[in-house]
Amino acid sequence: MRIKYKSVDELLKLRDAGLAVSEILDDICAAAVPGASTADLDRVAANGISRLKVKSAFLGYQGYPAVLCTSVNEVIVHGIPRDDEVLRDGDIVGIDFGSFMHGFCGDSARTIVVGGQTSPERQKLVDTTRESLEKGIEKCYPGNRLGDIGEAVQLWAEAQGYSVVKDFVGHGVGRQMHEDPPVPNYGRSGTGKRIKSGLVIAIEPMVNAGARDVEVLEDEWTAVTQDRSMSAHFEHTIAITDNGPWVLTQAAPSPGSP
Ligand code: MF3
Ligand code: CO
Repeated sequence: MRIKYKSVDELLKLRDAGLAVSEILDDICAAAVPGASTADLDRVAANGISRLKVKSAFLGYQGYPAVLCTSVNEVIVHGIPRDDEVLRDGDIVGIDFGSFMHGFCGDSARTIVVGGQTSPERQKLVDTTRESLEKGIEKCYPGNRLGDIGEAVQLWAEAQGYSVVKDFVGHGVGRQMHEDPPVPNYGRSGTGKRIKSGLVIAIEPMVNAGARDVEVLEDEWTAVTQDRSMSAHFEHTIAITDNGPWVLTQAAPSPGSP
């Protein structure tokens, strides 16, 4: 599959899709309070889908059974929402949501701390993962390379003593949730494909407090840290423009906003 560079018209559709994802994620995150189940969060996501008249990108994707991924504590990604999984104060939960609008996809994830209290260790892991995504986004200028993005993400996380997951990577985004190119959260600057204006990618660092090794549970979705250390995940869908990154799944302006 070749990279599909987007026209201005397509970028505007991707922006609408991205804003819908951001709005629905706001609702889901607000509902992630102690006592809520991860299935409750899936229902909040489903309500957002009907209200904004978008189509889930996850439900049915390779047989995935929900509209949301909820990844609690040692779960890295692809946790399936459950009625019997109740959130507790101090849990960290990765909330990953994607949907289609006008035929185009938005894909984004956040990790939040549930309730008022968590350990400083967990908070630092969450903050560092969000910052590592920001470091990657800062490299999204035409002429840079995918390795510049990966290295920026990796160095920021590893400087805090964490590891970045290599088994899952970011991806191009367009009419499909997963398009070329793969976007690793690791690499070396000056290597990899050159990025240019019109490229739309999801950068999605998964950062583990312990080792980077992944284990997939018997449900064939839930990816946990092999050492059961905590893990955090953030993701944005980003358009590369002549002025730099336009973070499509974030309402606030970015350097490449029109
Ligand atoms: N946002 C994720 C990704 O980029 C989750 C998709 S997994 C799914 O790959 F099965 F739920 F769709
Ligand atoms: Co993604």
